[in-house]
Amino acid sequence: MGRLVRVISAAGSVLLLATTAAADSAQSEIPEAGRQKAVQCIACHGVGGETTNPGFPDLAGQNAAYLQNQLVSFKSGSRYHPVMTPVAKSLSDEDIRDLAAYFSALEPAAGREEQQ
Ligand code: HEC
Repeated sequence: MGRLVRVISAAGSVLLLATTAAADSAQSEIPEAGRQKAVQCIACHGVGGETTNPGFPDLAGQNAAYLQNQLVSFKSGSRYHPVMTPVAKSLSDEDIRDLAAYFSALEPAAGREEQQ
C-alpha cells in the first residue's frame, strides 16, 4: 500500500511540473511574426501596446478574438474610424491574426484593470 501511494504521488508531481512549465512558457512566449508587424502600430498604440493617451485604446493583454474582430470590422467597414480604418485595410487576414496573437500575449501594465 505504501509503495502504491509513493507511485501515485510521484506521478502527481511530474504532472504538476509539466503543467507549471506549460503555463510559464505560454506567458513568456511572444509571437515573433506579430511583434515585427506591430512596429507600425507603436506610433499610436505605444511600445508594448499601451499608451497614456486616452484617444488610443490599450491593446496589451486584450482578448485575441476581440482584437481580431475589431480589425476585421475596421477592414470590412462595419466599424469606422478615420485613422484606424485605413490602417486595418492595409492588413492581410494573416497580419490580423498575427497582430491579435501578439498584442494579446503582452502583459498589461500593473494597475490598468483598476483604471477601467
Ligand atoms: C495613426 C494612429 C494609429 C495607428 C498607426 C494604429 N492605430 Fe489602432 N487605433 C487608433 C485609434 C485612434 C483607435 C480608436 C478608434 C475608435 O475610437 O474607434 C484605434 C483602435 C484600434 C483597435 C480597437 C481597440 C478596441 O479596444 O476597440 C485595434 C484592435 C487597433 N487599433 C489595432 C491596431 C493595430 C494592430 C495597429 C498596427 C497595425 C494599429 N492599430 C495602428 C489609432 C491608430
